[in-house]
Amino acid sequence: MATVLVTGGAGYIGSHTCVALLEAGWEVAVLDSLENSSSAAVEAVAEIVGRGVRLDVGDCRDESAVEKVIAELDPDAVLHFAGLKSVPDSVADPLRYYRHNLESAAVLLAAMERHGVRRIVFSSSATVYGTPDELPVSEAAKTRPANPYGWTKLMTEQMIADVVRSDPRWSASLLRYFNPVGAHPSGLIGEDPEGVPGNLMPYLLQVAVGRRPMLPLYGTDYPTPDGTALRDYIHVMDLAEGHLAALEALESSTGQVHICNLGTGRAASVREVIAAMREATGHLLPCEELERRPGDVPELWADPSRARSELGWSATRTLAEMCRDGWAWQSKNPQGFG
Ligand code: NAD
Ligand code: WQD
Repeated sequence: MATVLVTGGAGYIGSHTCVALLEAGWEVAVLDSLENSSSAAVEAVAEIVGRGVRLDVGDCRDESAVEKVIAELDPDAVLHFAGLKSVPDSVADPLRYYRHNLESAAVLLAAMERHGVRRIVFSSSATVYGTPDELPVSEAAKTRPANPYGWTKLMTEQMIADVVRSDPRWSASLLRYFNPVGAHPSGLIGEDPEGVPGNLMPYLLQVAVGRRPMLPLYGTDYPTPDGTALRDYIHVMDLAEGHLAALEALESSTGQVHICNLGTGRAASVREVIAAMREATGHLLPCEELERRPGDVPELWADPSRARSELGWSATRTLAEMCRDGWAWQSKNPQGFG
């Protein structure tokens, strides 16, 4: 049975991807420091699929921990989700982000090289594009990150591409996610941010479940149809299935680096998301209209055609399903994993 190591697999996107991998017949092992997640997520994954999942609690920057897992598992591939992901935190403490995200990737790649594990799928981000010149954004667009977090993603992409170029026995998929939202329809796993949510959907869900009084709505004067910013929200299970497609594509891609946008190709405004969430939750979801949030771009959505042609994957789930499934998680787990 083919085995895949999922770093950061106790986290939001990693745990959902573990469900898709297990249901497709992969053996899955998780390496996670649990610094932004709980082992309860891995237990919930096992409950959803009815199969066990190996969890090694450890840090990708710890050479001995990574060496141990790779040597014991001898995985066919690695999905690398582990890392820090907050844009504002990266602006406040850039060195922490550069060290954390780049050391994690470098230590992992070196261990993979030592053991002849040469297939990797990497969690990149649409933040590598910064403010695009044209929309929708294709992978050919200029990459010009506007914050240290985005730079760590672009630098890690470059690190991986250089490794593949140095040894064509490697193959890699670099997946640039747009805005992942929602949860597995079972409601057993979902997004469980630490502290005050930075992102729209988890904040809205916490308002719906009574943890927060109202949504701060950042910016109603954008040059968009309803004045609020437009984004490409993608269901986390679509994203998970995109990783499965990318992993399977690696089997016939030796020496290649696939760079793919994972988005729906459709944009939704903040007001449209609020309306969809009101419909899904039955709650009023009061909002306080505020000035624009520094660093936000007015519009950002994907051209997902390369993922369709290279990976045979397209997102299928609607905004209503994203809100329905996100609410299934939050309403059953008001305090997240606790
Ligand atoms: P998350 O914080 O829920 O998951 C990341 C997981 O990695 C957590 O379980 C955390 O404990 C673990 N981790 C962090 N550093 C580690 C380290 N050094 N060693 C081992 N484990 C470590 O985040 P997420 O939303 O699931 O994102 C997963 C990946 O996708 C990240 O790399 C993120 O940058 C990227 N991404 C996320 C989004 C998004 O909006 N959520 C968008 C684009 C890209
Ligand atoms: C979406 C819209 C906000 C919160 C971020 C990261 C990106 C990626 C995905 C990691 C914007 C508005 C938000 C709130 C609001 N993460 N908003 N009130 O900024 O598009 O992308 O997450 O890779 O790197 O930048 O997502 O959900 O934060 O914001 O009005 O409480 O919702 O202003 O217009 P964003 P978001």
